[in-house]
Amino acid sequence: MADRDALQPPPSRCPGPGVAELFDADSRPVPDIYRQDSWQDRGSAPLSASRYTDPAFFAAEREQMWPRVWQMAARDDEFPDAGDTVVYANLGKSVLLVRQPDLSVKAFWNVCLHRGRLLRTESGPAQELECPFHGFTWKLDGGLKRIPCQWDFPHLTADRMALPEVRCDQFGGYWFVNWDGQAPPLLDYLAPLPAQFERWRMEDTYTGLWVGKVIKANWKAVSEAFMEAWHSVITHPQILPFTGDANTRYSLWGDHVNLALTPFGVLSPHLAEQGLTDAATVEAFAAGSRMKGMEPMQLAPGQTARSGLADNNRAQNLTALGYDASEATDSEVLDAWTYNVFPNIAPWGGFGPAIMYRWRPWPDQDATLMEVRMLFRKPAGGPRPRAVDMRFLGEDEPWATVTEWGALGSVFDQDMANLPYVQERLKSSANDRVELGNYQESRIRHFHATLDKYLSGAL
Ligand code: FES
Ligand SMILES: [Fe+2]
Repeated sequence: MADRDALQPPPSRCPGPGVAELFDADSRPVPDIYRQDSWQDRGSAPLSASRYTDPAFFAAEREQMWPRVWQMAARDDEFPDAGDTVVYANLGKSVLLVRQPDLSVKAFWNVCLHRGRLLRTESGPAQELECPFHGFTWKLDGGLKRIPCQWDFPHLTADRMALPEVRCDQFGGYWFVNWDGQAPPLLDYLAPLPAQFERWRMEDTYTGLWVGKVIKANWKAVSEAFMEAWHSVITHPQILPFTGDANTRYSLWGDHVNLALTPFGVLSPHLAEQGLTDAATVEAFAAGSRMKGMEPMQLAPGQTARSGLADNNRAQNLTALGYDASEATDSEVLDAWTYNVFPNIAPWGGFGPAIMYRWRPWPDQDATLMEVRMLFRKPAGGPRPRAVDMRFLGEDEPWATVTEWGALGSVFDQDMANLPYVQERLKSSANDRVELGNYQESRIRHFHATLDKYLSGAL
């Protein structure tokens, strides 16, 4: 049998207008920072299926990886006021973020220093941090405030009883925590994402929609279902009239950041032979786009589907909110800029309502809490609304139950329908192999290479 490496074609891209050509045709100059095509050949090796199913591999992730990475614990708009708190828990560790009187943020191990009860069970406002068991109480800054029956605890002096802190830092309104004192600073860890996000000012957005649901598959398998666009050809056929699925550009940077940039307002290359009109593309976009309430639109003479949809989005998502949209490119107002930050979030970029995904094991290798948020831009010059609470969908509640996001709910239901079948079959794989495309699935290779670095101690 021929050696599998001898069969590898050179890295290639799907025919059709790729991102570079669409940037050239953009109605606005595209900044150089977005033109770099940062992709490296990551080879063609398969992954082992047991990475998704083996409790020992899951334990290695829990011990070697999770405590050493920056985890997105909260959006700034979840706890904007002094005394607001957020509880973020993952794999048995719980952290308590507390907004200080000067509006800075401290993060504490969410564990009472008396006999170890979870100090705060839920997010919400607080004047002080009182343990519900015996009432040991701390100030918002973590200093000890009082101990009931103090006479019995002369040995627990205030200097020994401050709440231990966890490292925390934020970028763009995303608050991260890290249990590892040796980890690199957040901005180094996120590079080059902060520079690429600078124009989009995500700190001016708020969580207007937030939905979570437990999915019966490994947290990596769930997140990887959102790392490539090419499953659209079979899983989401209704979006092909307006989605350049196979013309997505994949970019990989360093160890922690990558991007899938999927063009909208163009025909899928799978439909290239069908010769759909631009009007049909616009109609399909309106029916299948990410939010309900999109105004019906007609293309003006001379407009393409892409330029018309971009103009429409620019008007709705920037101009109507009081922002100057003159430099916002067609791509930034229309396309899916799906970034991933290792290990478990996907914050979308661009100027439209930005989706954000977060995935956590729930609680083991066979299930995941998947959260989807929509971040909306606040009106220019106006206050930023508070985040809504997360709506937790039950096992039998489809994503389409949430009517606010229009056709997007059905798209998520299509995605999730695959995943339990993936997890079950990975457990009984005939060859223990998961195979990946060289280009379109390169973000999955990138992710696993970084995971291996954490597991081996190289990171
Ligand atoms: S465990 Fe918290 S006060 Fe006793
Ligand atoms: Fe999908």
